[in-house]
Amino acid sequence: MSVERVVDTIAETAVEVRGGLAGRRTYTEGENPSGDDQLEADVWADSLFEERLLAIDSVGSYASEERPDVIEGDGEGDYHVAVDPLDGSSNLQSNNPMGVVFAAYDTPLPAPGRRIVAGGWVLLGPITTMVVATDGPVTEYVLEAADEATSESHLTDGHGGGEPVERRPVAEDITIPEDPTVYGIGGRVPDWPEDLESFVESLEDDRLKLRYGGAMIADVNQVLTYGGVFAYPALVDRPDGALRLQFEGNPVAHVIETAGGASSDGERSILDVEAEEVHQRVPVHVGNADLIDRLEDALD
Ligand code: AHG
Ligand code: MN
Ligand code: MN
Repeated sequence: MSVERVVDTIAETAVEVRGGLAGRRTYTEGENPSGDDQLEADVWADSLFEERLLAIDSVGSYASEERPDVIEGDGEGDYHVAVDPLDGSSNLQSNNPMGVVFAAYDTPLPAPGRRIVAGGWVLLGPITTMVVATDGPVTEYVLEAADEATSESHLTDGHGGGEPVERRPVAEDITIPEDPTVYGIGGRVPDWPEDLESFVESLEDDRLKLRYGGAMIADVNQVLTYGGVFAYPALVDRPDGALRLQFEGNPVAHVIETAGGASSDGERSILDVEAEEVHQRVPVHVGNADLIDRLEDALD
């Protein structure tokens, strides 16, 4: 069965989520399984994605950063979908870019990144774009509510209960630019592993510009667009870093490696990291292959 319906449903739901953010900027009492505070928007977006994705026959289960356990569908669906319903949700109060990260795996979760059939993100920036790699090259789409659509192109059908949106391809077979321009490294400098700081100094010597905005997919989208490196590394007090393998590390590694870049947990491709637990964290480094090689040498 086609995974395209999953991608369409992510697109429709992300456009609807964007429309509902303004009134959901307050924190709930709760926290997610990783111990992060939860915004109203996190919880609401998660419930929409669960409802819409599990309504698809080909979806066997749903897992989210906001829920402790995998939710089984009622059929025998082939795809097991992991979603970060709002990545960078702390940017909502400051009205900075944020988005949705997703991966449809062809095996039950937790699953290694090499089992991703379709993965990517929806970036809620000045415009709404979707970047996805589905067994082939990376494509960027502009997403618009169908009534604003400006040209006949792929219209989703609102199958799961969402409103149809236009998913218009604007860049195809995307590859990461050879000459890197930007870098963004998470965590506090005193908490970085030894030698990471000297690696960053070498980036500055190479005239790369610091671009770090607090939402992984906004920062990774800049690296895909302009070339460079994004990392949320292992920290002295958090040896597994902050980002989650199923919902963040694997999807961005899938896209960046498909676009001719590289990923690393510090030692190997993130896509080769063994998946043991749904909410396991992983140090994330993605970008141009030569920069990732240099970074691995520095961390060695
Ligand atoms: P989420 O909002 O899904 O928890 O993700 C936030 C993550 C990631 O998007 C970003 O790169 C990182 O947290 C930012 O962490 P800092 O606030 O420590 O910079
Ligand atoms: Mn996130
Ligand atoms: Mn999130």
